[in-house]
Amino acid sequence: MSDTTRAKKKLFIKTYGCQMNVYDSARMADVLAPLGYAPSDRPEDADMVILNTCHIREKAAEKVYSELGRLRALQQARGADAGRQLIAVAGCVAQAEGEEILKRAPQVDMVVGPQTYHRLPEMVAQVERAGPGRGVMDTDFPEEDKFDRLPEESAPQGPAAFLSIQEGCDKFCTFCVVPYTRGAEFSRPAAQVVAEAKRLAAQGTREVTLLGQNANAYHGESLDGRGEWGLGRLVRELAEIDGIARIRYTTSHPLDVDDELIAAHREVPELMPFLHLPVQSGSDRILKAMNRRHTADDYRRIVGRLREANPDLAMASDFIVGFPGETDDDHAATLRLIDEIGFVHAYSFKYSSRPGTPAATMGQPVPEAVKDERLQMVQQLLGAQQKAGHQRTVGRTLPVLLERYGKHPGQLVGRTPYMQSVAVEAPAHRIGRIAEVEILSVRGNSLHGRLADATLTGEIDSLSPRTRIEESTAV
Ligand code: SAH
Ligand code: SF4
Ligand code: F3S
Repeated sequence: MSDTTRAKKKLFIKTYGCQMNVYDSARMADVLAPLGYAPSDRPEDADMVILNTCHIREKAAEKVYSELGRLRALQQARGADAGRQLIAVAGCVAQAEGEEILKRAPQVDMVVGPQTYHRLPEMVAQVERAGPGRGVMDTDFPEEDKFDRLPEESAPQGPAAFLSIQEGCDKFCTFCVVPYTRGAEFSRPAAQVVAEAKRLAAQGTREVTLLGQNANAYHGESLDGRGEWGLGRLVRELAEIDGIARIRYTTSHPLDVDDELIAAHREVPELMPFLHLPVQSGSDRILKAMNRRHTADDYRRIVGRLREANPDLAMASDFIVGFPGETDDDHAATLRLIDEIGFVHAYSFKYSSRPGTPAATMGQPVPEAVKDERLQMVQQLLGAQQKAGHQRTVGRTLPVLLERYGKHPGQLVGRTPYMQSVAVEAPAHRIGRIAEVEILSVRGNSLHGRLADATLTGEIDSLSPRTRIEESTAV
């Protein structure tokens, strides 16, 4: 190893988009750690900046170009003494528009797709040899498995961590770019997933969120290598790992909810009672045009079966308003479905036309003003449901995984089983523990509570306020 590779260099990564990108960003940091790069939260003095991008809606790509413009200004302000700053564009915009990025933003040194970032070290060597202005691009869908080439995690991932189990999508919903940017559906072998979960648990992770564009389409090689496991079976295996107290998965497709997964929701206490199950629309006509391959009633039935398995299950979802040809009646059907199911959390979006997707050429666009109006109605209803979900927890005592410091001294923040964020007075050494918390009130989008366990409360009281402040600001 040469002196230059051993010297510490600073790596700034900005992440856009979904949890998969958050996971990928952490793994890119792992890939670059052996080259001497350590994470930093300041782009100004970073030796490498990676923008890990999202292509899901319009403006996403525009955001990347304006960020590149800001970086260019920062680079100019750095002066020559600061040394060369490498700029990489990764993620789904890189995959979809790599060539164009290199043309439009010549200061970009590397364009790397979601399936090739394990090759970053070779790319870095290449651009270092070539010098500025000669960007390299790698957006293949390679034969080799990225996950086989990735190094182990270079740092603990925290009490709640993401674990990617499945990638890509073969569903081809007519509005969506993911099948094009992430490629064909692929599941990691169970042995790989279990090994990663064990490493996470050994480093203090208590909760794993299994990630996939459709996590419940998981069909990875079984532990004995003789067959395939679905998500339900995988969840059972992960629940056996010492230290893993909570399991979640996201996101999921209604069609891939099978009996084994429903049984896991009934029988595996580690599987948290919160499920993000996107439905997009409540109108069968629109669902068909979206190629979702299920009806609104199918969705009702699936949620019914899940809730029968676990009556405590809280539902979350995604909605698109203003899909081409959506009428007032279609919109009303969506509102009806929301009203009937009741969601504790949801994302809702105005339809955004994506070049290359079938919906982009369907015609019958919905006027922007109508989209705005419909989005507002959907969000109002979902907002009220979320608030009611928060309100229902008040007075209850819930297990909360304390994850990090809160805004105020002496305060920690964690999550309920239903993914609600809770602020609670607690000593800092409780981070990473699951505490019984009595929920006292709703504050905006989160909850406020107090430790219900008498011994824990005693523990706080025994600390002087000063110690509490020091504990909570020590990072
Ligand atoms: N794999 C997940 C979601 C992937 S994208 C699933 O199938 O549910 C996340 C969300 O972005 C989608 O659920 C959808 O609601 C939204 N979305 C995707 N493409 C969109 C588009 N063209 N316009 C508006 N919203 C979109
Ligand atoms: Fe996109 Fe549909 Fe695949 Fe989800 S299931 S990633 S919305 S194509
Ligand atoms: Fe965006 Fe790619 Fe995720 S398009 S939502 S970052 S899979």
